Amino acid sequence: MSTKPTTTVRIDQDVKKRACEVLDEIGISMSAAINSFLKAVVREGTMPFDMKIETSKPRLKYGNATLNHAFIVKKDEFYTQYEDVASEMAKHREQLRGKTILCNCDDPFESAFFRFFVLHFNEIGLAGVTSTCYAGSPIAGLEYPLEGGTGAYKAVVTEVPEETLVRPDGSLDLESLFAMPGNALMHLTGDGDFRSDECEALLKEADIVATNPPFSLFREYISLLDRHEKKFIILGNMNAATYREVFPLFRDDKVWYGESIRSGDRKFYVPDSYPLNATGCGIDKNGRRFIQVKGVRWFTNLDTIRRHEPLSLTRCYNPDEYPRYENYDAIEVGRTQNIPIDYDGIMGVPITFLDKYSPDQFEIVMLANGNARTNVPSDTLAEVGYRPHSEDRGGVGIINGRRVYARILIRKAS
Ligand SMILES: C[S@@+](CC[C@H](N)C(=O)[O-])C[C@H]1O[C@@H](n2cnc3c(N)ncnc32)[C@H](O)[C@@H]1O
Repeated sequence: MSTKPTTTVRIDQDVKKRACEVLDEIGISMSAAINSFLKAVVREGTMPFDMKIETSKPRLKYGNATLNHAFIVKKDEFYTQYEDVASEMAKHREQLRGKTILCNCDDPFESAFFRFFVLHFNEIGLAGVTSTCYAGSPIAGLEYPLEGGTGAYKAVVTEVPEETLVRPDGSLDLESLFAMPGNALMHLTGDGDFRSDECEALLKEADIVATNPPFSLFREYISLLDRHEKKFIILGNMNAATYREVFPLFRDDKVWYGESIRSGDRKFYVPDSYPLNATGCGIDKNGRRFIQVKGVRWFTNLDTIRRHEPLSLTRCYNPDEYPRYENYDAIEVGRTQNIPIDYDGIMGVPITFLDKYSPDQFEIVMLANGNARTNVPSDTLAEVGYRPHSEDRGGVGIINGRRVYARILIRKAS
């Protein structure tokens, strides 16, 4: 093993890629090139070239294939803000104590999750934090320019110094962190895909998973956590609650929303290549691109105080105000706050009910949407008196011959 210290450097992704191409041609590694540059600085006692203002910028040319790939990748490249992580984790401090946390979609140099857990490691009393980075991410390896490997690596932290790791420029002093004997930064053998054997092995070892996984793989991601019976606190979009793989977890009380986000937009950082004309996209005062996203929620199976707080209800049942569906033995409740206090049968409520759901107060029976006929077990369909309707497109509630929106069928908890 090399005894030379490693160092971390922020490098523009495109500059790194183009420099690598040149160095490959010459046949020297990035590490050797950086070493030669630093030796020249020492030898000459100054920068080893003239510092001049660039007068004309080279134009970059991308082929269609590159652009298409970039577009697909971008949809998963939303980086969580530190404040969002800190607000939610503050609600779970006690449950985090003594635990090993895995952030398995997180470049340790960029992730607000890794930063939060490192900065609060001693205060919370964590046992460890492991963060893995994905080689397919456009930010992978930007600040870890070691030659070799796949571009994916893992950071393992089991101790953090008492003195602050925050440098004057706000970045984390990861050199000091990884110089501690209990910590390590090393290449993975694969590409860091959370589904790979080596990443699944890390998942098995961890107590709690905390991250913002790629949205396009949310179903697979949460199913994997469920299969391994892991505790987790992850970010996703509320639409994901209606997925065939996810809704049964809500119904069976195996997942619920976290504490801190129940409405509004969330801001996420996006790569510099993200189109500024995309809806909700902007640049903050530090020059970082962001996007405002609606419907973001924490998905967790860590118990929360909020989910044991019953919804305060004031309305009473009245058949004129609460019509019955033609294809379910249930009444339509168009707004969650209008749930009648005295109705004991099945009620159809909007998906946003999940923001107010307390399992102490209600029981979730099923999701009445266009996939109900195929996704919901036949005994449950029988229990709610479902009968197919020519207009219900697979199970959407029908009132006066017209489809309503997707509804969660609930009843009072027994
Ligand atoms: C929504 S971003 C969030 C990044 C980080 N967790 C955060 O919150 O800032 C999801 C990350 O997962 C990475 N990713 C995409 N596919 C992945 C996979 N199959 N396995 C692991 N990570 C993946 C993406 O490159 C991206 O960096």
